[in-house]
Amino acid sequence: MAVVAALLLACAALLLLLALGALSLPGASDGPGGRGAGLARPRPRPRFRRSTFDSGLEMRGQKGEPWTEVLSWEPRAFVYHNFLSKEECDHLISLAKPHMRKSTVVDSTTGGSKDSRVRTSSGMFLRRGQDKIILTIEKRIADYTFIPVEHGEGLQVLHYEVGQKYDPHFDYFHDDHNTKNGGQRIATLLMYLSDVEDGGETVFPSSTTNSSSSPFYNDLSECAKGGLSVKPKMGDALLFWSMKPDGSLDPTSLHGGCPVIKGNKWSSTKWMRVHEYKGHAPVVEETWVKDGRKVTDYTLYTGSLGTALLLFKSFQVTGDRGDLALAADIVRACDEASRGLPFLTFICGRAGVCALGAVIAKHCDDQLRVTQYLSSFDEIIVAEKVPNELLYGRAGYLWACLFLNKHLSGETIPLEHINSVAKDIINEGRNLASKGSSPLMYEWHGKKYWGAAHGLAGIMHVLMHTELKPDEQDDVKNTLRYMIKNRFPSGNYPSSEGNDSDRLVHWCHGAPGVALTLAKAYEVFHDDYFKQSAAEAAEVVWNRGLLKRVGICHGVSGNAYVFLSLYRLTGNVEYLYRAKAFACFLLEKADQLIAEGAMHGGDRPFSLFEGKAGMAYLLLDMVDPSESRFPAYEL
Ligand SMILES: *[C@@H]1O[C@H](CO)[C@@H](O)[C@H](O)[C@H]1NC(C)=O
Ligand SMILES: *[C@@H]1O[C@H](CO)[C@@H](O)[C@H](O)[C@H]1NC(C)=O
Repeated sequence: MAVVAALLLACAALLLLLALGALSLPGASDGPGGRGAGLARPRPRPRFRRSTFDSGLEMRGQKGEPWTEVLSWEPRAFVYHNFLSKEECDHLISLAKPHMRKSTVVDSTTGGSKDSRVRTSSGMFLRRGQDKIILTIEKRIADYTFIPVEHGEGLQVLHYEVGQKYDPHFDYFHDDHNTKNGGQRIATLLMYLSDVEDGGETVFPSSTTNSSSSPFYNDLSECAKGGLSVKPKMGDALLFWSMKPDGSLDPTSLHGGCPVIKGNKWSSTKWMRVHEYKGHAPVVEETWVKDGRKVTDYTLYTGSLGTALLLFKSFQVTGDRGDLALAADIVRACDEASRGLPFLTFICGRAGVCALGAVIAKHCDDQLRVTQYLSSFDEIIVAEKVPNELLYGRAGYLWACLFLNKHLSGETIPLEHINSVAKDIINEGRNLASKGSSPLMYEWHGKKYWGAAHGLAGIMHVLMHTELKPDEQDDVKNTLRYMIKNRFPSGNYPSSEGNDSDRLVHWCHGAPGVALTLAKAYEVFHDDYFKQSAAEAAEVVWNRGLLKRVGICHGVSGNAYVFLSLYRLTGNVEYLYRAKAFACFLLEKADQLIAEGAMHGGDRPFSLFEGKAGMAYLLLDMVDPSESRFPAYEL
C-alpha cells in the first residue's frame, strides 16, 4: 500500500506530536505508577506468577491490579487481568459502535473477505494509532507481548449478541495472499471490553487440558466445558500464540467464541505478525476501509471517487499496481452507488465515475470493463436545463469527455460531440450576456459566478481545451479581458458579478482559479496580456493564499497549483520555490495546526477537494513538478 505521501504526512504528524510531548511513551524503566501504561489510573508493573486456579481465586479479590495468569503451554496462553481500564473499554466501544458491520471471514481462495455462518458477530477495524487512547493501548500491548507496535494489525472491535458465536478456527493463514503484508500471524491478544452474564467464553477445544479443575467450571457454558476456556471479564486480555517457539504453526491454538447465552459481549482483537505490518494510508482508511468498503458519497469532490483518483495518481507516480487495483475496486463501488443518478459531471457526477473507471480499467488491461464504463458514459444525458458550470453542469461533463480522449485514444468521444457541447455552452453564455459587458455570462443558482468551481473561470478553462471557431475564440478572449479589467484594485477577482467583497482567495472563488485559466489562455492564444495577468493573479495568491484550510478547493493545496502551473508555463524557478514553500508548510505544519484548532480540518477532512487527500495529491505532484496537474481541472 503506497500512498506514500499520505503515509509521510502521518509520520510527520506523529513526530510533531512526539516532539510536543503530546504522546507519552513509557521508558523501559517504567515502574509502579509509571506514566506510560495507564491512562485512567497509575498502573503498577505486572507481577508474573506461576499460577494455579487456586491462586487465581485468591488474586481475584484484588480488583483492578494487573497480574498475569499462565493459562496453558499448549497452546501458549496467558491472561493479563485488568489490562484495560473501564474508560479504555468504553472508549473502544464508543468508537466502533456507529460503524459496526456484519463480520466476515477470510476467503482462502481469493484472499478477500466473505460473509460466514461460522462467525455471526458484527465488527469494525480501528486504525493503528488512530487516537491517543488507542496509541497508549497499542504501546501497552507491545510492552506486554514483546512484539513491536509496527507488527500489529489495527484493532478490531467485535460485538456478539445472544446466540452469536465464532466457531473454532485458527488465526494463522492458510493462503499466500494474506501473508504478503507482515507475514504470518504470530499471536493474538483478545481483550474483553464487557462482562458477559452467561456464555461468550473463549474456548480452546484442542488444548491438552480443559477447565475441569477450575473452581468456576460449573459457571461455564456447555460449549466452554469442551476445552480450556476463559470467561470474559471487562478489562481482561487473553494472549495466545499461533506459533510455537520454533516458529512452526501451533494447531492447539484452535479457538472459538462460545455463543452468548445472556447479556452481550464486546471484545477487541489485536493480531500480531511475524514482520512489520503496514497499515493503509489514513486517506484510504478513512474514506474507504472504515465504512466497510461501502460508498456513502461517490463523488470525486468529497467522496470515494476522489480516493480512487488519488490512488491512480499514486500508481502513476510510484508504479505500485496495488494502488491501481484498489482504485479499480473503489470505482466499481462508486459505479454501483451512482447508477441511475442524473448528475453528469466529472467532479460531482456519473461522468467522473465512468471516465475514471474506463481509464483505470485500461491500465488494468481489463478491456471488458473499459467497454462497460464507456457504454455507461454514453448513457449520460446532457439535459437542456442543466447549468453550464464545472461542478454540476455542461463544462464538467465536457471535461470528462476530454479526459477520456486524453487517456484513451484521441477519438474515444467523437469530436463532433465535444464540439456540439462546447457550442451549446457558448450559445448559453451569449444569451445571458448583456450589452457592453462580458460577451459570455452564466448563472448558477441565480448568481453570475466568476470562479473556477461555478463560474466564468472554470467554464472558459474547459472551453479553451476544445476547437473553437474564430468568433467563439474572440468571445472567450474578450470574456477574460472583461474579467481582468474589472478585477479588484488588489488584483484579486470578485466571486460573482458585481460583488465588491474582496475576501476569498481560493480555487473556487477568486484569483487562484482565474490564474490557472489565464495561464491556459496564454498557452492557447499566445497573448502576453494573459501571461502578465496570470502572473499578477499568482502574486495575489502568494500574498494572501496561505489559508487556514488544507484542501484543493478552499485551501492551500489548491493555491499551490497556481505556482506549479506558472512554473510549467514560464520555466521560472521562483514559482517552483513558491509551490515548494506552500507544500512544505502543509507537510510540516498542517496536522499540528488542525489539532490545535488554528487550521480548519474541513467537514470531509480526508476528501480530495476539501481535505487531506488533496494535500496528498499535491505532494505526489511535487515529485515531478513539470508533470503536475490540478486534479480534475488541468488536463
Ligand atoms: C476434562 O478433563 C478431565 C480429565 O482431565 C476429563 O475427565 C473430562 O472428561 C474432561 N471434560 C471434557 C468435557 O472434555
Ligand atoms: C459576495 O462575495 C462574498 C465573498 O467574497 C460572499 O461571502 C458574499 O455572500 C457575496 N455576496 C453576494 C450578494 O453574492
